[in-house]
Amino acid sequence: MGLVAHLPAADLERVLDPLMSPLVWDLAHIAAYEDLWIAHRVGGLPLLHPELAAMYDAFETPRAVRGSLPLLDTPGALRYLEDVRRRSAAVLAEELDPARAELVELVARHELQHTETMRQAMAIGGVLPPGEPPAPRIPPGSAWVDIPAGPATIGAGPGGFAYDNERPRHERHLPAFQISTRPVTTATWLSFAEGGGYVRREWWSDEGWAWKEEYDITHHPSVAEAPPRAPVCHVSWFEADAFARSRGARLPTEHEWEKASASEQLDVTGHVWEWTSSVFSGYPGFTAHPYREYSEVFFDSGYRVLRGGSWATHPRVASPTFRNWDLPQRRQIFAGLRLARDLEVV
Ligand code: AVJ
Ligand code: FE
Repeated sequence: MGLVAHLPAADLERVLDPLMSPLVWDLAHIAAYEDLWIAHRVGGLPLLHPELAAMYDAFETPRAVRGSLPLLDTPGALRYLEDVRRRSAAVLAEELDPARAELVELVARHELQHTETMRQAMAIGGVLPPGEPPAPRIPPGSAWVDIPAGPATIGAGPGGFAYDNERPRHERHLPAFQISTRPVTTATWLSFAEGGGYVRREWWSDEGWAWKEEYDITHHPSVAEAPPRAPVCHVSWFEADAFARSRGARLPTEHEWEKASASEQLDVTGHVWEWTSSVFSGYPGFTAHPYREYSEVFFDSGYRVLRGGSWATHPRVASPTFRNWDLPQRRQIFAGLRLARDLEVV
């Protein structure tokens, strides 16, 4: 409620960006998700508003159509949230077994993830709350960290909460590589743009070049206005990939990122998600839990993995094993990159 307190109903109800939901959709969606998993699945109660279930189901009602639906208005969405929270409190007053407690954590993290999605829409629409975003500054100078060849333990262990896509934990052998101590800054990005970054065909993948040509992308409007020492933000995977090649480097794989993030030399509080080269896919032995539409339906269909977290990511969500994902052309995420390269062993 604090996140939207500064906004008049008109701003909550309008489409801030064609790629994003009206904020009032997110609010009622948070209520619908909570009611489904807590009152209904954990508590065994019927849904509070079964007639709203489809409209606020992310899968049945994709973002593109959410602006043209008879959504609940602001007072209606706020009442829905309040009524659901009261039902949840009644269910949660009783002691829960671990399997049901896990669903409560799922709901808490779901709400926190949507506060980041809402901030993305607010950032694009220029209506972030006062004081946001924080002014990130990273110290000048970056260095390479050498990570020798060897095994890496990837993913979340069996205990505690983790999303299905973080499991099962497994070992992978990774060849030696180098990774940068910090994310790429806006200033460095601008030198790429000024040095022909959007013109030099050899730096771009075929798909990235096609995207750039189709949408006539010749620069990055919001990067040009950002503080020079801030990590570059709002870049697409296609651009991040081209940038890395322009520096004779590449994006890290998500496994390299996870292995390297244990090093104290790495600044992983860079205030941006970091694109990796990895396609979002299930780990060996993956099983969907508790529903396929969280992760599995996105596997192996061109979504790329982001690691880390942004200034808008709640610490309860960001963890070294957490996997975020989006399509390579997307720029609405608070996303930048960190460079990696092969380490030739002599
Ligand atoms: C993990 C951020 C990609 O927003 O699609 C929210 C999180 N899942 N509601 C998304 C999510 C269901 C998800 N991401
Ligand atoms: Fe959701």
